[in-house]
Amino acid sequence: MVFMTETGRNTPRFACENVRAMKERILGIVRREGPLPFERFMELALYDPEGGFFSGEVLRSVKAGDFLTSPEVSSLFGETLARFVAEEERRIGQPFQLVEVAGGSGSLLRPLLAVHPVEAWAVEVAPPARAALAEIVGEDRVVASIDAIGGAWRGVVIANELIDNLPMAIAQRVDGSWRERWVGEDDGNLVFVDAPPRPEVLRWLDRYAGPVDDGGWVEVQMQAGEWLHEVLSRLVAGSVLLIDYGDTAENLAPRRRDGTLRTYRAHHLGPHPLDEPGATDITADVNFTALADVARRVGAEVTLIRQDDFLATYGLRDLISNLRREELELARRGEEMERLRVRTLRTEAETLMHPRGLGDFRVLIARR
Ligand SMILES: C[S@@+](CC[C@H](N)C(=O)[O-])C[C@H]1O[C@@H](n2cnc3c(N)ncnc32)[C@H](O)[C@@H]1O
Repeated sequence: MVFMTETGRNTPRFACENVRAMKERILGIVRREGPLPFERFMELALYDPEGGFFSGEVLRSVKAGDFLTSPEVSSLFGETLARFVAEEERRIGQPFQLVEVAGGSGSLLRPLLAVHPVEAWAVEVAPPARAALAEIVGEDRVVASIDAIGGAWRGVVIANELIDNLPMAIAQRVDGSWRERWVGEDDGNLVFVDAPPRPEVLRWLDRYAGPVDDGGWVEVQMQAGEWLHEVLSRLVAGSVLLIDYGDTAENLAPRRRDGTLRTYRAHHLGPHPLDEPGATDITADVNFTALADVARRVGAEVTLIRQDDFLATYGLRDLISNLRREELELARRGEEMERLRVRTLRTEAETLMHPRGLGDFRVLIARR
């Protein structure tokens, strides 16, 4: 695995103290219990209520935050997804609910509901994100876990850039077999240590690792599959829409030499994932083969497509053409301010569709 040194903004002093405290707590656990599976470390680093990256007072998914997501690029993302939701509502009828998991600042839900108002719930772990979402769906409909929404669900569940954050194990191919990398201690630092693979990790690797050469690294995304299984077992009719970076196991093969585990902070690749727990996002490319298999096993019908193709299906390419025509017309009439407004809309829409950027994300639709 290759990690860059810090390239983002300087770590603020309170964040340094937080990192030190988190590191000490994790080292304390390692000293008491021995090395931790990587997913346990990731759970602490991202979700620990006292020092986890998503637990503080900072809203992470905004332009001034740590990563820029499709809904933050343009409200056209939510408006385009509204057409998918409307289509699903026509297909399954009433009752119908929309559940967004990991909604961040609400930049997807707000424009979506403006175009297609339906009963909506938001599932979020981060306190500042929960406050932002409460303004859109009401406090009673913002919950911290899918377990808090009772009953059988009929409708659409959307998660944009959630799955890449769910805690995962790490394995490496060594001399033709698998080893896990757990988190241990060396001289007061957190380090990767070698561990024999657990049976459940081996089972996952056999099914979903795809082709991996000796020395290659694989992120073992068992929790992602369990999460999707749980959601689909609650959904009696409708669909789950998962949008994220990643690919099929086969297409991920060229990325296996170094693996895809990485950190982000302030829109830049961040430090080694073990170096600053609580102060960086930890993420990896999503293995969509594994998710598709989980969905098919519970009887869902699966579609896996690129984000640009998905958005085009729901009208975004046509909208870009219309905006281009409108720009020309406004230029002809000399309406410069209006032309600039339309041009901004058009370039934002093009960013969502960029074939080597957001357009290259994958969209998994699991329908029942
Ligand atoms: C990369 S941001 C994406 C936010 C938003 N979906 C967007 O696209 O702008 C990840 C979000 O997922 C939330 N999150 C992470 N794990 C979660 C979980 N297990 N359940 C609910 N929300 C979660 C974080 O708090 C954060 O707001």
